[in-house]
Amino acid sequence: QSITVSSPATVANMVCGFDILGFALQAPYDIYTLTISNEKGIKIIQEDAFDLPANPEENVSGAALLAFLEAVPEIPGLILHSKKNIKPGSGIGSSAASAAGVVVAANHLINNYFPKEELVRFAMFGEKVASGVKHADNIAPAIYGGVTLIRSIFPLDIIPIQAPDLYVTIVHPQIEIRTADARQILKQNILLKDAIKQWGNIAGLVAGLIHHDYDLIGRSLEDVIIEPVRSILIPGFNEIKIKCKEAGALGGGISGSGPSIFMLSTTLQIANSVEQIMQEVYNQIGLAYNTYVTTINHEGVKIL
Ligand code: HSE
Repeated sequence: QSITVSSPATVANMVCGFDILGFALQAPYDIYTLTISNEKGIKIIQEDAFDLPANPEENVSGAALLAFLEAVPEIPGLILHSKKNIKPGSGIGSSAASAAGVVVAANHLINNYFPKEELVRFAMFGEKVASGVKHADNIAPAIYGGVTLIRSIFPLDIIPIQAPDLYVTIVHPQIEIRTADARQILKQNILLKDAIKQWGNIAGLVAGLIHHDYDLIGRSLEDVIIEPVRSILIPGFNEIKIKCKEAGALGGGISGSGPSIFMLSTTLQIANSVEQIMQEVYNQIGLAYNTYVTTINHEGVKIL
C-alpha cells in the first residue's frame, strides 16, 4: 500500500501575525511517497540534493512520522521516498512541508482516521526538530490550505480564514537565516502603543481577507514589532518593499523568519512587475536569488 502527496511551501506570519497567521502557496512544493512496511520504524530514501539527516529522529519528516506511528501501533513501519524542491532555510516553510506532507499521507493510509488538527500535532514534532520550538504557522496552512489563524497552540485552536485568490511573488535571496537565530534576536518586551498598532493590523488583515477588501488588506500589512528587527538581516528589503508597493502590490514583507520576501498582488500583471523589481534589486546588489510568481493555495497537501 502506497500513497504519494504534494506538500506546499507556506508563508508564515503574513507580516503582522507573528506565529499566528500563515498561508499556503501553489508553488514550490515537495513530493512524498509513503509505503507501509513490515519492518519496524521509518526508512527514509531521499531523492533530492539536500543531504538532510537520514536518521528519522533527526529528520523533520521522520520525527513527525514517529509521532504518528506511536499513535497507530497497527502499522509496524513506513518507507518514505522524499523529493524536496523547497530549499531548507529559505523561509517558505521547507520543514513544515516535510512534516505536513508525510502525516497527511500516513493518515490517508489509514482512511483519514485522524482529523486535521491531530495531524498538525504530529507534524509539530517534526517542526521542533528543525527550529527548536513548536510553532504551527507553516504547518497549519500546509495541511488546511489557504490562510489559517492559529489562535492558540496550547491548546491547539486553528481557524481557517476564507481568503480571496491573490497572486504571490516571492524572492529568495541566497543567504541563509536560521529560524532559531531569527527568533533569538527578537525583543522580549514590547511597548503598549506598538501592541495596539499590531493587533489593529492583525484584526484589519483578517477582516480584509474575509470581506475581500483589498484596500484594508494593504493597509493592514504592516509589522511594527518583528520586521524592524529582522529586516536588517535581509539586504535590499526596504527598497523592495517600497518599489513593489509603488508598482501596485497590496503589500508584503518577510516570509516567515526570512530571508525570503513575499508580496501580494491582485493581478498577474502586477505580480510579474513585482518579480521584475525584486530581480533588479538583487542584480544590483550582486546577490544570487530565486523568484516565484504563484497564487494562494486553498487546498494544502494534495493526494496525487
Ligand atoms: N513564526 C515563525 C517565525 C515562522 O517567524 O519565527 C518561522 O518559519
